[in-house]
Order: sequence, then structure tokens, then C-alpha cells
Amino acid sequence: MGDTIILTGPTRGLGLAAAKALLRRSPTATLVLAGRNQAELDRLVQRLKRWRPRATLAPLALDLQSQASIRAFASAFRELKLGPPTALILSAGLQFSEGGAVGESGADLTFTNNHLGHFLLANLLAGDMAPEGRIIFVSSGTHDPDNRTGMPVPKIRRAADAAYPAQAGNNDPANVAGPRAYSTSKLCNILCAYELDRRVQLCGRSGPSIMAFDPGLMPGTGLARTYPAPLRLIWSLVLPRIIPILRLAMGPNVNSTAESGDNLARLAVDPAVHGWTGVYVVKKKAVPSSKQSYDTALQADLWALSAQLTRLTPSDGEFSWKVAPPPF
Ligand SMILES: NC(=O)c1ccc[n+]([C@@H]2O[C@H](COP(=O)([O-])OP(=O)(O)OC[C@H]3O[C@@H](n4cnc5c(N)ncnc54)[C@H](OP(=O)(O)O)[C@@H]3O)[C@@H](O)[C@H]2O)c1
Repeated sequence: MGDTIILTGPTRGLGLAAAKALLRRSPTATLVLAGRNQAELDRLVQRLKRWRPRATLAPLALDLQSQASIRAFASAFRELKLGPPTALILSAGLQFSEGGAVGESGADLTFTNNHLGHFLLANLLAGDMAPEGRIIFVSSGTHDPDNRTGMPVPKIRRAADAAYPAQAGNNDPANVAGPRAYSTSKLCNILCAYELDRRVQLCGRSGPSIMAFDPGLMPGTGLARTYPAPLRLIWSLVLPRIIPILRLAMGPNVNSTAESGDNLARLAVDPAVHGWTGVYVVKKKAVPSSKQSYDTALQADLWALSAQLTRLTPSDGEFSWKVAPPPF
């Protein structure tokens, strides 16, 4: 059986590079392209189809800010009867230069888009995965205060601080609140990956395996789209041309989208990655994530709040509700 892969955020940046790398590594794969702009998805399918005619490409509408859209996506995927997914790659994400906007559940918009949407999608589809399937949450080194990224670091004690940053007491001006909400959402991606991994094991299942991935700094993507024009120009036109200099200044994890896209595709399809679970991967290696990301109480707190905000029910997924047996 070939690979059946669901990829969020395939229309640009890391997701687009990962789509190409997946089809290079697995030319006969079935690739479900999950995005919110149907016209862009259709154009992408035409481009990829010309290049990899033996692949099966399915464009499917998904807006991670809408729980109705996420639920409709999961149903539409099942109706396509493409078989159990061998990989679910949660790559979509965005960053706002200013904080303060809220999503449909009343939680912070960055938290809603980058964490809550993928939390719901992973819960709805985890039980459908192939036994040896892989779920990969794309995170970021910005989640870790020990990394020098230039971004404000997460400052949360409990899940509600991530969902409702105004209540966290950080008193950030808007231009700090936006980037901090981003690094916080990327911490949530890892907390969520570790908690889902724990739940899969508590259910006595050997799979799917769950990973978090840091693609490193990838200048030139659409991530800076809400920043002022001069910063956007530097991000889009200057920084991608000076990656070797950026590596000297910031460390080795500065990459082109092609490099990180291939590393991400490898996690989804390479047999050498078989059995990797509950790990955080940078480039090709599993490495420790931030100290706070291993806080099991925070992982459980985030899970409970996310389940409440997405109105998760026991029928939504087999890993959603089974929790630790009592310790006796
Ligand atoms: N660039 C970096 O330096 C960097 C570093 C570390 C981690 N990352 C992570 O890498 C991932 C990809 O980011 P990128 O830099 O490649 O940014 P990008 O070029 O802006 O790509 C983001 C993708 O996510 C999609 N997306 C965003 N919100 C969505 C929603 N509500 N529903 C469906 N799709 C949505 C976008 O679709 P639209 O075009 O429709 O908006 C786009 O396809 C993100 O998770 C980001 O946090 C990036």
C-alpha cells in the first residue's frame, strides 16, 4: 500500500516545499492538500500533477479558524475513501504583528489558528490513522526561552494564559503581544503532541506515532505577511539570500524552505523514522524541547481547555477522552 498523506498549509512556504518533497520521496502517494483557498488549491493540484502524474492529489477545503470547517473536512476526507492516512502533517500556521484579535470561541486568534484548529483536526482523525501512521505537529524554536530567536518567549503558567493572553498579566504592548502569542502557540503544539502521544499509549495502542518538528528560521515565507512593508521586504528579499550569514549570527537552524520541507517530508515517509514517537525533531534529529514543554500538568490542562473550547465529545475520537487510569 502506498502513502496516504494529509498536509495542512500546502499553498505556500514550508507546506508547499513539503508537498514537493513528499512527492519526490513518494511519487505514487495520495496527497490530500488541506487549505482555505480553493482556487489556490486547484492551481497547486494542476502544477503538482504535471510534475508527478502518478500521484493522487485531493484538494480539500479546511479553515483552521472554523470548527465547522474542520469537522466538515474530516467528514469529506472519510467520504473520499482514500484509505487510512499514513501521515497527518499539521504545517499550517500564521503570525500576527499585533496581538489582541480573538477567534470564534473567544480565545486568542493565534492560539485558535495555530493550536486549537490542529488540536481538533488531530483528535478527529487520529483514530482513522494507519496503525503505523505518523502525526507531525509543526512547532518552532521560538517556543524555547533558551533559544536566541529574537522573539518574545512564552510566559504562561496555565493553559488559560495561552488562550486569553490579556488575563496572563504580561501587560505586553500590541506589537509584543502578537509575536508572543505566536511563540506561545508553538509551545502549545508541543504540549499537545506530547499529551496525544501519552493518550495513544494509555489506550494500549502502538500507533499512530506523534512528533513535533521545528523547521528552523525560514526567511521568505508568508509568515511575515502582517508586518510593516519594510520588514516584509527584508524578510522576503534580503534574508533568504544571506542564510549562511544568518547561520553564523543565529546558529545552524536557519534553512531554506526546500531544506526544511524535505526534513518534514522525511518524518512523514522515511522508514528510518519508524517508531519515533513523543519526540521533538530539529533538522533530522530528535532533541530536547523546552523545559516547560515537558510539564505534564500543563499538557493535561491545555488538553482539557482545548477539548472544552472545541466542544469535543467522546464520539469525536478514541484518544480524546481516555485518560490515565487511577494510580492503584
Ligand atoms: N518561517 C519560519 O521562519 C518558521 C519558523 C518556525 C516555524 N514555522 C512554522 O512553519 C509553518 C509554516 O509557516 P510558513 O513560514 O511556511 O508560513 P506561510 O508561508 O505563511 O504558510 C502558512 C500556510 O498555512 C496556511 N494557513 C494559515 N492559517 C490557516 C487557516 N486558518 N486555515 C488553513 N490554512 C491556514 C496558509 O494558507 P493561506 O495562504 O490561505 O494563509 C499557508 O498555506 C507554521 O506552522 C509556522 O509556525 C515557520
